[in-house]
Amino acid sequence: MKKSPNLIFHILFLLLLISPSVFSWKKDEFRNCNQTPFCKRARSRKPGSCNLIATEVSISDDGDLIAKLIPKTQENNESQDAPVEVDSKPLLLTVSVYQDGILRLKIDEEQSLNPPKKRFEVPDVILDEFLSKKLYLQRLSEEKIDNDLGFSSVVYLDGDYEGVLRHDPFEVFVRERGNGKRVLSINSNGLFDFEQLREKKEGDDWEERFRSHTDTRPYGPQSISFDVSFFGADIVSGIPEHATSLALKPTSGPGVDGFSEPYRLFNLDVFEYIDESPFGLYGSIPFMISHGKARGSSGFFWLNAAEMQIDVFGTGWNAGQDKIMMPVDEKRIDTLWMSEAGVVDAFFFVGPGPKDVIRQYTSVTGRPAMPQLFSTAYHQCRWNYRDEEDVFDVDSKFDEHDIPYDVLWLDIDHTDGRRYFTWDKVLFPNPEEMQNKLAAKGRHMVTIVDPHIKRDDNYYIHKEASDNGYYIKDASNRDFDGWCWSGSSSYTDMVNPHIRSWWADKFSYGNYVGSTPSLYVWNDMNEPSVFNGPELTMPRDALHFGGIEHRELHNVYGYYFHMATSNGLVKRGNGKDRPFVLSRAFFPGTQRYGAVWTGDNTAEWEHLRVSVPMLLTLGLTGISFSGADVGGFFGNPEPDLLVRWYQLGAYYPFFRAHAHQDTKRREPWLFGERNTELIREAIHTRYMFLPYFYTLFREANMTGTPVIRPLWMEFPAEEETFSNDEAFMVGNSLLVQGVYTQRAKHVSVYLPGEQSWYDLRSGAAYKGGKRHKFEALEDSVPAFQRAGTIIPRKDRFRRSSTQMGTDPYTLVIALNSSKEAEGELYIDDGKSFEFENGAYIHRHFKFSNGKLTSSNAAPSGAGGNRFSTDCTVERIILLGLSPAPKSALIEPANQKVGVQLGPLTIRHGNSPSFLTIRRPNVRIEDDWTIKIL
Ligand code: GLC
Repeated sequence: MKKSPNLIFHILFLLLLISPSVFSWKKDEFRNCNQTPFCKRARSRKPGSCNLIATEVSISDDGDLIAKLIPKTQENNESQDAPVEVDSKPLLLTVSVYQDGILRLKIDEEQSLNPPKKRFEVPDVILDEFLSKKLYLQRLSEEKIDNDLGFSSVVYLDGDYEGVLRHDPFEVFVRERGNGKRVLSINSNGLFDFEQLREKKEGDDWEERFRSHTDTRPYGPQSISFDVSFFGADIVSGIPEHATSLALKPTSGPGVDGFSEPYRLFNLDVFEYIDESPFGLYGSIPFMISHGKARGSSGFFWLNAAEMQIDVFGTGWNAGQDKIMMPVDEKRIDTLWMSEAGVVDAFFFVGPGPKDVIRQYTSVTGRPAMPQLFSTAYHQCRWNYRDEEDVFDVDSKFDEHDIPYDVLWLDIDHTDGRRYFTWDKVLFPNPEEMQNKLAAKGRHMVTIVDPHIKRDDNYYIHKEASDNGYYIKDASNRDFDGWCWSGSSSYTDMVNPHIRSWWADKFSYGNYVGSTPSLYVWNDMNEPSVFNGPELTMPRDALHFGGIEHRELHNVYGYYFHMATSNGLVKRGNGKDRPFVLSRAFFPGTQRYGAVWTGDNTAEWEHLRVSVPMLLTLGLTGISFSGADVGGFFGNPEPDLLVRWYQLGAYYPFFRAHAHQDTKRREPWLFGERNTELIREAIHTRYMFLPYFYTLFREANMTGTPVIRPLWMEFPAEEETFSNDEAFMVGNSLLVQGVYTQRAKHVSVYLPGEQSWYDLRSGAAYKGGKRHKFEALEDSVPAFQRAGTIIPRKDRFRRSSTQMGTDPYTLVIALNSSKEAEGELYIDDGKSFEFENGAYIHRHFKFSNGKLTSSNAAPSGAGGNRFSTDCTVERIILLGLSPAPKSALIEPANQKVGVQLGPLTIRHGNSPSFLTIRRPNVRIEDDWTIKIL
């Protein structure tokens, strides 16, 4: 039979659809370590090959420990076995000490020796407040350690810790005072190497070629690499962004099969990334946290914005090497850090608990910003909601189907030809009216604003940017011209504060025509993504403000773009309202400017699974407000997957559904009644827990502790939790387990700790410290409240979070074996910065001796401006109390209320009954006591 060309085309198309390459990552577009000369050089070095020693060690006038690092020569080499290197100049080493046990180590070239260029140090990340917490070292003591012939210099770090600079061989470590146990060290394996800048000699070929691109590399090799050891560690985690497990797998050493690339930190727009890979994605945080049963946690942060590659060594990686300087019998994890450029500016965090390490890290880089309440609710996005009619249709369908949502998003095609800050006049003729209509229901909009500026002389942003010389330059000092969504585009140089301020002004209501106060912003493609650039990004020899090469600051570009946008939103409202800006690229400090998401994932079960370790890792590294596209960006999720994704996504800190333009429409009501019901239920769950989430966002804002946490953060001594990244804690009270397979029948859940856990659906109690097998229910993913906790909720369902403001609270008290429980609630206006002046309510709830007490948890003296609300408590649910009491007495009102058996949540008519104190109607902001009689 002769097939028609049409049929052949269809068959080919179908084959293409089912072939794995449809969702396969274009690996060849990106360099691997072997194709990256600095990485290859660093990886080929042998342990012990560093021949530097520390000399001229002293305390500087600034209260730092300073020293020079010089190669060991024949004269100063007593053992005569180190290689002689005569052409390198001394490096300057500075150790500074800060409050809370933080040690900072800087190593750079000596400026007095006139290196060809000043190496780039990343500005605008470290908080001034942190710098003000420096301890001025007064003296150093000298001692001999580990049978050394020479000395080591010891400085005070904190009551319990000391910093040590070993002179020969050069090594820096932090140890516990008293027992001398090491916590964290650098160069214990002798892998430190610092390629000093030098003048180009004739015959030097510094160019690097990759595919069709040539990097001119006018300054030549300038990479830095060193090893870092984490003592007492069972696992290391952190260094996002990679789609991989929470506990980082070894990348080097015996037994490493098929995972031999180092973890790469290089902000890239990776099209169709795979769900298990050490390759770098959109953002980079060079911060690693270790955890172990023996000691707890420690952390290491290298502030450096150039491409970085990090190896995690498996046990036995250096077997047979005799030049290792540390006590070999101690349990530890060794890592190798390699960067293309910059300086050593590293921070050691001693912990000892996981929350301590994050507090220490975020004291350097900043605590997460307090989001507006609406942005913690559900977001509906798609590339693209076509026009105003589509927007109104989607908006009203949410109401018809009784599904709450807070934000509707517009992707690139709402603009006039992908010129950001404009509107397509045909599709969106009345943007202000459109936003106002949504705002009348308490809803918000988000529009996308990307960094690539269309090179069109009639486009005002381009005109101003090019006339004023605001663009990043190419290696020949012309405006860099690359290809992105807008076609031929240039990129504003956000590293320059003046240009950031110009950009921020573009968000004023006058400048951004068609924007209203209910409009917020999405920054995408800010790695930056350049479709025709090397590895789909900006060439490394492009030039920024001050002559800085792009290679030196690549990873921080997106951060600056996010910062400028976020500042713009603050400016437009005269500093009144908190901004909301979602960014794809990130860097340490991003947490101060907004949320991030994990980019272009795929509608596959494995992508649902990996979203959890990805978000947990972001939280561990300061970026608490993060989410993954619910449903998966590429491809069409089967309804089962979509529903499971909503059920899990409802617990992501940032909860947004999003989809590629080529996917089928997938608004919650398009998959039949039952699935609509299930998705509605999932979204409702999020709305119910909003008071709890908001309280957790405030905790993150105060301490850095992330909203969602690995189990080991709450149960640090329980080894069983260390590699668990399928379940997570929301705050300290909820444990959530995803369901990651199609038509799952059962789910196995490990419940940590000694106390019980109460199933959120049934209220049934399950023992902690055990793995349980549960039936996989269709209507939710397994979720449990920890005994001993109190969770505040709002159970009445509205169209959006902003309409829940005056709704009464429900308190769910889960009693532990001593019949006690505790919890907190934070409330403010959900919008402005007034909370910073004390305009908030912070309550502490405690149940003990048969009495629930509400007291003020705000520090005394906080406040000036008080925030006040008329909200009351309409229901108190008690789990784990028997025998059932008859009534309860409210004090000080001295009023009796009944105790009833009622359903756990108002919707679950079929769930077993629980003790419910109905309508105690006490005011949430008051002090009161409710006694069970
Ligand atoms: C990028 C983003 C995606 C967005 C698309 C179009 O792929 O990651 O979320 O929809 O660009 O703007």
